Amino acid sequence: MPQTTPPSADWWRSAVIYQIYPRSFADSDGDGIGDLPGITTRLDHLTELGVDAVWLSPFYTSPQADAGYDVSNYRDVDPVFGTLADFRILVVRARDLGLRVIVDIVPNHTSDEHPWFKQALAAGPGSPERERYMFRDGRGPGGDEPPNNWQSAFYGPAWTRVTESDGSPGQWYLHLFDAKQPDLNWANERVRAEFDGILRFWLDLGVDGFRVDVARGLVKADGLPDYPVQFQHASGESGLRTRSPLFDQPGVHAVYRRWRSLLAEYGPDKILVAEAHVRPPSRLAQYVRPDEMHQAFNFEFLDCPYRARDLRAVITESLDACGSVGAPSTWVLNNHDDVRHVSRLGLPVGTWTDDGIGPRDQQPDLELGTRRALAMTLVQLALPGSAYIYQGEEVGLPEHTQLPDQARQDPMFARSGGRAAGRDGCRVPIPWEPGTPARGFSPSGRTWLPQGEDWDRYAVSAQRGVDGSVYELYRAALRLRREYGLGIAALQWVTLPGAGEDVLSFQVGDVLVVASIGGGDVPMPAGDVLLASAPLGGGALPPDATVWIRRRAA
Ligand code: NOJ
Ligand code: MG
Repeated sequence: MPQTTPPSADWWRSAVIYQIYPRSFADSDGDGIGDLPGITTRLDHLTELGVDAVWLSPFYTSPQADAGYDVSNYRDVDPVFGTLADFRILVVRARDLGLRVIVDIVPNHTSDEHPWFKQALAAGPGSPERERYMFRDGRGPGGDEPPNNWQSAFYGPAWTRVTESDGSPGQWYLHLFDAKQPDLNWANERVRAEFDGILRFWLDLGVDGFRVDVARGLVKADGLPDYPVQFQHASGESGLRTRSPLFDQPGVHAVYRRWRSLLAEYGPDKILVAEAHVRPPSRLAQYVRPDEMHQAFNFEFLDCPYRARDLRAVITESLDACGSVGAPSTWVLNNHDDVRHVSRLGLPVGTWTDDGIGPRDQQPDLELGTRRALAMTLVQLALPGSAYIYQGEEVGLPEHTQLPDQARQDPMFARSGGRAAGRDGCRVPIPWEPGTPARGFSPSGRTWLPQGEDWDRYAVSAQRGVDGSVYELYRAALRLRREYGLGIAALQWVTLPGAGEDVLSFQVGDVLVVASIGGGDVPMPAGDVLLASAPLGGGALPPDATVWIRRRAA
């Protein structure tokens, strides 16, 4: 089978992109927090795994009120993660290994410790400095009520009142997230121009593209109208999915057209990826029109209940919607905001987990969850388009559901008064070697969040070369995906004789993919088995398993 590789300008159409969460990947200096030099020394793990690119969550100067999604200097590295020189070294090493590097850009809000926000506070109402943010007078007597009823995605009101420099109670500023993340005003040309400069800064340092945080949020509806508060539990952004004056306003698209042409100056292979919780897929597809972004995370796929008919519908809709604008779909099962899939799928089908899982919540059945997760991974990695892998999923790492309250750092936990466990459970430092301090994450044995007690088994080195390990399954899947050109082939649904409605089966290129989602044993179709997510006994595909079979399309 010839190696099928798309032309390099189109690398992203079928790329497998690995998300590194810098705080938790590898710590070089022993402070218990991962850093850029740590990442550089572990990059060869990613070539061994077989991915095409890495996406780094924010490592910029930041008070870390939202783990770096609160940036106070967009053109520097936070000392906790290293220096710009360390970043340059990381890029060189990645290049040498043939890995592309995508960085995060956080345009919806800055940190309240960004110089612009400090200037806005000092300059007072009506000043051009305040115009860069969303300041408004309050409602009611004395302006004591917030300007509208919007809620923060991290619980609590989306407005905070400032004290003016004369000591009087002052205006309010909007923050869709934490109070330490004031929203920018994208109607302001100085804001737009500043971000052009930030994109150029990182492109000049050699990055291959940007993952755009809160891509649907930059523009708010005119007049900031009240919106019925219907998200009692909002996690990250995913609780805020209905069409609202806060999100998915038509004005956001002009920003991405501007960025697309800026990127084009740096070559045809630089990309933009939207983090946009927008539904349905046809609406999300607007973000990946030919003159906007290149791809958008497919959260419909991540959120899809573990049911064959729902999965079939989401896959079809995603391919159709993206196809209608000439973009590839993406396939995502994990990231730093969602409960890890081996845990999520170990709860009853359709359980809502946007608030995370803590010790007081229902606990997942990890054996079942892992089987289901691996079945889903082999569905994901066979689908045409681009796939994202989040650090740790390649060893089957579960959510840490037993983190004690005092360890939790996600602002969602505090802002919800502890009702929402939050996202720390999917952000725990990676185990690399069993039985060593911090399992090889940090030379000092420190970890900013405690690892699970039984995590030796998830250490990368404990699984390397071990037949039947999750790590070797991912490696084999990525190798076969490349060899058979699965990322760039077309998908055709297949009906297998005798298969019930719990079976998902499709042909991609020369590979037939059969997934038993729930259900019972499925008779094995003819052909050579290339890979299976669970042992195959007695010539049948067991429940909660996926198999890749080599077979020419009918
Ligand atoms: C989405 C990011 O993925 C999440 O981690 C962050 O808290 C919010 N955007 C706000 O920046
Ligand atoms: Mg460190």
